[in-house]
Order: sequence, then structure tokens, then C-alpha cells
Amino acid sequence: MKLSVLQFNPIHKNVQKNYELIENYLLSLKDSIVVLPELATTGYLFESREEIIDLAEEVPNGPFTKLLENIAKKNNLVIVSGIAERDGEKVFNSSLLVSKSGFIGKYRKINLFYKEKNVFEEGEKLEVFDVNFMNESLRIGVMICFDWFFPEISRKLKLMGAQIIAHPSNLVLPYCPKAMPIRALENKLYTITANRIGMEKNQNETLKFIGQSVICSPKAEYLLKLDENDEGIFSIETDIIINENITKYNNLSQDLKKLYEKEQLRSNFKR
Ligand code: ACM
Repeated sequence: MKLSVLQFNPIHKNVQKNYELIENYLLSLKDSIVVLPELATTGYLFESREEIIDLAEEVPNGPFTKLLENIAKKNNLVIVSGIAERDGEKVFNSSLLVSKSGFIGKYRKINLFYKEKNVFEEGEKLEVFDVNFMNESLRIGVMICFDWFFPEISRKLKLMGAQIIAHPSNLVLPYCPKAMPIRALENKLYTITANRIGMEKNQNETLKFIGQSVICSPKAEYLLKLDENDEGIFSIETDIIINENITKYNNLSQDLKKLYEKEQLRSNFKR
């Protein structure tokens, strides 16, 4: 199975141009699951909800969902992309998922980072989606950028049955690419982190994004690790093999079941 990331430099506040860039990149790819960065259509750095609301759009009724649905159908892709999602007067930092059959679902970021708290509403619900692709049934969980920092998020996605975590990102700190092989190992799944590149300036603030998109295996391997300035679509081929035995010495599902039963017992005791 082909797993891909699009690592690129979205143009700040230029949604139409970002549609064009994304369409051109994706039309060069066929028969793949592909993950795009967080906020791929708007860029990242906003000071307030008012500054982004007219650039945000409804999901799935907005034009970006339609564009991705058409590309997915044409080229047999499963696409997960970050987007600023408008819902009435609220804006969410969301990711949407489409396949050749159309819109599958969306996730609204729970752990907002830094000034995102002044711009977006917090999401409230984790999502794992059933996806049919290349004659296989897969369960794909979605988290967005800073969600990686809270191991409970990946663990909960695992407990909800995720086999792959799609992870649109706009990373500025250096740690996430080092941590993702361990998220993949400890939860026995594949992770696809698509980060952006470039710099963005807004008012008095400048941010530099670190690139270094990574695809990791349940054996803590980097199947893909990009550089800070790589730009374009990058793919690897792998069999998605989910075997709950990390080694012959243990079984993750049984161990987790026991752990949470004990935890439940413990939390019933009053100290
Ligand atoms: C981030 O959550 N965009 C760092």
C-alpha cells in the first residue's frame, strides 16, 4: 500500500492559490493514502477569529471538500487535509477525510497551541473512520499537530481501533519528528505526519516551520523522514501489518485491557 505526504509552503491568506498548489501536487499522485499539512488552505498565523473567518469554509459543504473529492475520485486517493472550518460564527482547526467514494468525515483539533486559542474553538471528540482502499478495510484515526504531545490522544485512537493515525501538522518546535516512532510503537499502528515548510509573518510575530514530515511503523521505524526544506509529494510502499504482538513476549491488546481494568479498580479506592 502506498502512503504519502504533501510537504509544502502554503501561502498565507491566499486560499485560491493554495487550492491551485494542492491540486497540482495531488494530480501527480495515484492510488495512495496522502496526508496534507494543518490549515493547508489558509496558512497558520492568525491573531483573532475575525482575521480568519472569511477564509474559513464549511466542511463538507465548502469548495475545498468538493475539490478534494474530485481529485480523490480521479486518482483513487484517500486524502486527509487540514482546513480552517467555519460553522456559523465559529471557526475550528479541522481535518477532513475524503476517498473516491466522497466525503468520509472530519475531526476538530482538541489541543490548541499558543495563539490558536484566540482564533479557534476547541474540538470535543476524537474520530476514527472506516475506509475501504485497494480492497482493504482500514481504520484511520486523525489528530492535528500539537495533539501528538498528549500520548492519551494516540492511545485513545488506538483503543477506538485505529490502524493508521493521519497527522496534519504545522510544527515549529523540533520534538515531534523524534517522538512519532514511539507513538507508533507504543500503540502498534502506523503514523503519517505531514508538516509544512517555510516562514510566516503576521504583525509582530514570525514563525519558521520545521518540515521533517515522517511516516513511522509499529516497529518504531522511520519509513520516511524528510528534510526541513523538502517540497512536494513523497511516498513509501508498505504492507499495513497490524500484529498485536510487539515481540513474541507480549500482546498489546491483552496488556491494555488488563491495565485499564486495574486502573478502574484503583480509581474506585478513596485515598
Ligand atoms: C501546532 O499545533 N500547530 C504546533
